[in-house]
Amino acid sequence: MAVNKKAWGGRFREPLAKSAEEFSSSVAYDRRLYKQDIVQSIAYARALVKPHILSAAEAKKIIRALEEIMKGIESGRLPLRPELEDIHMNIETLLIERIGEVGKKLHSGRSRNDQVVTDARMYVKYETTEIVLLINKLQTVIVDLAEKHLKVVMPGYTHLQRAQPVLLSHHLMAYYEMLQRDKERFLAAGRAADCLTLGSGALAGAGFPIDRDALAKELGFSRVSRNSLDAVSDRDFIVEFVAAGALLLTHISRLSEELVIWSTYEFDFVELSDRYTTGSSIMPQKKNPDVAELSRGKTGRVFGHLLGLLTMLKGLPLAYNRDLQEDKEPLFDTADTVRRVLSIYCEMLAGASFNCEVMTAAARKGYLTATDLAYYLVRQGVPFREAHAIVGKIVAYCEESNMQLEYLSLTQLKQFSPVFTYDVTRILSAESSIASRDLPGGTAAVRVREEIKRARKNLLHDKA
Ligand code: ARG
Repeated sequence: MAVNKKAWGGRFREPLAKSAEEFSSSVAYDRRLYKQDIVQSIAYARALVKPHILSAAEAKKIIRALEEIMKGIESGRLPLRPELEDIHMNIETLLIERIGEVGKKLHSGRSRNDQVVTDARMYVKYETTEIVLLINKLQTVIVDLAEKHLKVVMPGYTHLQRAQPVLLSHHLMAYYEMLQRDKERFLAAGRAADCLTLGSGALAGAGFPIDRDALAKELGFSRVSRNSLDAVSDRDFIVEFVAAGALLLTHISRLSEELVIWSTYEFDFVELSDRYTTGSSIMPQKKNPDVAELSRGKTGRVFGHLLGLLTMLKGLPLAYNRDLQEDKEPLFDTADTVRRVLSIYCEMLAGASFNCEVMTAAARKGYLTATDLAYYLVRQGVPFREAHAIVGKIVAYCEESNMQLEYLSLTQLKQFSPVFTYDVTRILSAESSIASRDLPGGTAAVRVREEIKRARKNLLHDKA
């Protein structure tokens, strides 16, 4: 009997120290890959028949046992053992305990090195499609809100100072665009993961003539890896997935920041539903936007995962190194965080109600149509820089006399430039300012309506 009872224990004269066993065990988290691991093993058992490593009957026996093990793990009937290192050794051990000698044949030509990354690729592919669906859902909530508030005027900001009037729907649709890019990035990460690495063996390629193309087809991969050394050590697809998550959460975090500010007493632009806000344990009047804040806060941990992964990878020589086991927790946590934030955001945002009158009133105060006034002068032939200076003086005058641009009379305006005529009064409202931004990408209602239509069409297409 071997002194070291591990599956790999043959050459060892001492058992693994308990501390080292605990230190290196990953079952606590890689148990999440049990389904992928079993599906992969079932396909691999089939692939071992052609090169005569397994008879058809042996493969069948293995497959049946694996299916039972899947059910056992799913129901919690089969506990996983931390001392067996990882999910792969756990499942293989369960298999051998169940069917004996035949089970010991399954690992022929395979290594945990090509096995684990195959599981991870299956996981990333699945998570990507789930996340894309959730992004679609959030985009739909945003487009619905944009449509509902199509004509609502609000101040647009730069430097958080009132700048020019825009439509609330235009502001909301900005987030649709960000999410559209996020979706494309997740789809790209899914394509990066969509490559069969199984058959790479430990590092040099499996030692048996396994039909990798058939394996790829069976496991739903669209291509096979072209270099075994790269295949077992490449985690680019995980970095790409986490990077897509980091950028998506950056966008959610920006939106959160706006909702937090907008729901303050000072702004009062939005009221978040009671169902997605919390009170204070001491101040009875408080209603806090915790969901938005937590979403903003959770962004940081995904940034951390991205940096952690890049740092873990940067010094690794080819091919597999155990450092790579550290890819899993950041990967899982990123997928979980992104999914949870997207789901709760769909609910929270759908329940938000905008204080349209407050927003529109804000757009009327603060000289937001000063640029329009300068453009009026430009259309009368005044060079823009000169027009800018003239309107600057007009704004200063308004400030002194505590007046808004809209209320200036023609006589008053003429004191600053003789080219003003009666029609100037028509361009000073927030509404006319918005209507004048009538070009692709502009905030004019016709353009925003067009973008909403385009978005709806895209969403239908993306869902299919
Ligand atoms: N648990 C390991 C991981 O996640 C599986 C591969 C282990 N391979 C090895 N040769 N020790 O990376």
